[in-house]
Amino acid sequence: MKKLKIADGIHMLTMNVDDILFEGIWEIANGVTLNSYIVQGEKTAIIDGVIGWDGVPETLYKNMEEIGVDPKSIDYLIVNHMEPDHSGWISNFRKIKDDFTVICTEKAARMVKTFYDEDRVRIVKEGDTLDLGRGKVLSFHPVPNVHWPDTMYTYERDTKTLFSCDMFGAFGRMNEHCFDDELTPEEMDFFEFEGIRYYSNVMATFTPSLKKAIEKAKTLDIRIIAPGHGPVYRKNPQKIMNDYYRFSQYAEGAGKNEVTILWGSMYGMTKKAVDFAERVLQREKVKYNKLEMPQESESAMIAAVFESAGVIIAAPTYEYKLFPPVAAALNEIGRKRITGKTAFRFGSYGWSGGAEKELKEIMERNNMKWDFIESVEFEGAPREEDLKRIETGILELLKKMKEKVVE
Ligand SMILES: Cc1cc2nc3c(=O)[nH]c(=O)nc-3n(C[C@H](O)[C@H](O)[C@H](O)COP(=O)(O)O)c2cc1C
Ligand SMILES: [Fe+2]
Ligand SMILES: [Fe+2]
Repeated sequence: MKKLKIADGIHMLTMNVDDILFEGIWEIANGVTLNSYIVQGEKTAIIDGVIGWDGVPETLYKNMEEIGVDPKSIDYLIVNHMEPDHSGWISNFRKIKDDFTVICTEKAARMVKTFYDEDRVRIVKEGDTLDLGRGKVLSFHPVPNVHWPDTMYTYERDTKTLFSCDMFGAFGRMNEHCFDDELTPEEMDFFEFEGIRYYSNVMATFTPSLKKAIEKAKTLDIRIIAPGHGPVYRKNPQKIMNDYYRFSQYAEGAGKNEVTILWGSMYGMTKKAVDFAERVLQREKVKYNKLEMPQESESAMIAAVFESAGVIIAAPTYEYKLFPPVAAALNEIGRKRITGKTAFRFGSYGWSGGAEKELKEIMERNNMKWDFIESVEFEGAPREEDLKRIETGILELLKKMKEKVVE
């Protein structure tokens, strides 16, 4: 666990977590950080707690002591968000201290009770404040459904710091550099990509609420953004706000000027056409990602589709339906409410076809509103004329997706 001073009287405690499936699903190839913040006036508050995934808080207590904070001196536990990656240590904390108050929204209060049987809670509403003394005043700003319905921002007036929890967060472990002004250009790119993975995997479903949360952040005079996962922005907090706005557009069909080929093939018939499609994209000098399912992780697959303005789905018919790993991937994308993408499908079949029908069902069931170029299906191996039609489809896709490009 690392300890960093954010400003006078404000410390960050951060730890890298690897080797877990985030939310029990997402393979986080590059880890994730859990950040916690301590604000000291005459009274002391901790905003979100970080512990090991095993729920043992000793490391947290030890690290607090090393920055001169006696854990027993903590008066307030501010729970911005009840998800256990931020709140999991509460019941352990009760064992070492009896007289603290949890501060959270009404929705969170119910969960604090049902998850941890904790009822010494002060419920806060928009604009409520907590004066810690020595100039440190916290205010609270609910941002419901920024992940869970209970979520709020905490804002410190003296230093103009926004503690945003999941909002403005990213996957990716942090090494020495935890502030935006310390990050090298490569690390900056790394966290932008990890931000896309985090947003698309964890947050995309809640895009309408995230857009409201961006607007709410704009009403506060912010000098520092201190999220629950990923780096702290103190040089340019606007950067992560702009990134999040762009990500919200990706969730609604915009994307980078690139294509993702989401594909699968049993015996290589569809693969022949994928190889051909790649040559067309290379000739057209278009950046593309190629994700073969089920070999790729769902996390990487969702991020790639999410960030691309154009999507090529290449998959055969399997038992009168779409090749299952690709169908599962599209269902997952649908559950994340990634809507409005510009797309093109092709694939092989043996006798009846059926993949196309299921593709339409998935789109409709999830209300995805993707804009499709007419699909190309071929019997067995693709012939010259099939490849010609695929080339035409790709060129049409490239033309159409231009309207959706947001860099
Ligand atoms: C398990 C299995 C189920 C299949 N089910 C169908 C089917 O229901 N309808 C159909 O037209 N072809 C079906 N096929 C044939 C494939 O669609 C055909 O072999 C196609 O060329 C496979 O393309 P691929 O090599 O890219 O996987 C099936 C093939 C397999 C192996
Ligand atoms: Fe969360
Ligand atoms: Fe979180």
